[in-house]
Amino acid sequence: MAKKHAEGYLSAKESRRISRENRRITNAFEKRRKRRKVPESEYLTQMRDPNNAVEFDNLHTYFFTDAGTVKSVDGVTFDIPIGKTVGVVGESGCGKSVTSLSLMQLLQRPQGQVVEGEIRLNLGDKAYDVVKVPNERMQGIRGNVVSMIFQEPMTSLNPVFRIGDQVDEVIALHDGEGKNRQDVKKRTIELLELVGIANSEGVYRMYPHELSGGMRQRIVIAMALACNPRLIIADEPTTALDVTIQAQVLDLLRNLKNRINSSILFITHDLGVIAEMADYVVVMYAGRVVEKGTAEEIFANPSHPYTIGLMASKPVVGKKVDKLYSIPGKVPNPVNMPNYCYFKDRCERCVEACQGEYPPEVRLSPTHTVSCYLYRDGKGGSENAGAEN
Ligand SMILES: Nc1ncnc2c1ncn2[C@@H]1O[C@H](COP(=O)(O)OP(=O)(O)O)[C@@H](O)[C@H]1O
Ligand SMILES: [Mg+2]
Repeated sequence: MAKKHAEGYLSAKESRRISRENRRITNAFEKRRKRRKVPESEYLTQMRDPNNAVEFDNLHTYFFTDAGTVKSVDGVTFDIPIGKTVGVVGESGCGKSVTSLSLMQLLQRPQGQVVEGEIRLNLGDKAYDVVKVPNERMQGIRGNVVSMIFQEPMTSLNPVFRIGDQVDEVIALHDGEGKNRQDVKKRTIELLELVGIANSEGVYRMYPHELSGGMRQRIVIAMALACNPRLIIADEPTTALDVTIQAQVLDLLRNLKNRINSSILFITHDLGVIAEMADYVVVMYAGRVVEKGTAEEIFANPSHPYTIGLMASKPVVGKKVDKLYSIPGKVPNPVNMPNYCYFKDRCERCVEACQGEYPPEVRLSPTHTVSCYLYRDGKGGSENAGAEN
């Protein structure tokens, strides 16, 4: 661990030592990943449950920065069942995006590295541990098997090319075998219609700036669907849109979900959006999963004080309050995480055991788990947990 001055900054010497050490660590990771002709057997694995599309198993993703090691994701475990939507929710900075970028191998490198854990990806006839897949092979997985929708559509669209050309390119690249230009265009128009664009021939010839934010996000969704991926990652797909358009895009995603048989990993800081979209909910806090369960379980019986706080800080139509609840305090510094429960300093319901090490996972039902000492004795420490038994 880095030594710090009393004022809290690093000396030049200390900082140089850290960057040297970081380079040594990250070079080793990079070297592994850049190898060519790696036998498939090295990254083949077995799904724990063949009904899952993805299994995150004890994932640790760190950033080796000059200020120290940022433990962005620190032991995350959850499954994405085939054909289901899993919502990951938590405050900004809790590691939601880093979790999904780890799956795509799109972390900022060389600083960002998965240092421990497995991400098992179900390919139907076999399964890969994405963490071990070399760069060469990963390109065939991104877009084909897993695709991603980002928050801001303009980051995914090129402003100087027409919409049609951009969607065509995605199809030609990933799904173009045996297709001539006419076939590709036909498929593009089909996709544009699938995402609810009325004047598809006209939009085909437009530039991104001629479309509204909601339309652009529809185009990006069309591109993500282009090659029937097994998993679609939607990282805050509606956060940059205003409320009415947000509702339209959510509707679209929900309808699509029933028509395409893909799983969706839906990332948002907004519990209201989760309630509309998700079958399963994963609540993250400071790089760890604090609670997970089916959407009904999480909304009917939120158990972790953090989940309860998130629920209380959401406005409810028809309920009049003077001041909306906000969880006191702030997220701990990810470079120096405490060894007790990360939420302790903000929690209003601590018990004695909370002084001890990070709480173990407690099972409230076969699908509902929570990491909190309040529930350790099995019967639960609150009125909320009582409903479970
Ligand atoms: N490239 C990076 N370098 C250093 N730290 C990073 C980097 N990317 C993300 N982080 C840190 O990782 C943590 C989780 O970030 P992120 O997953 O983006 O949060 P969110 O839950 O809002 O998506 C944050 O503390 C963030 O500062
Ligand atoms: Mg994010």
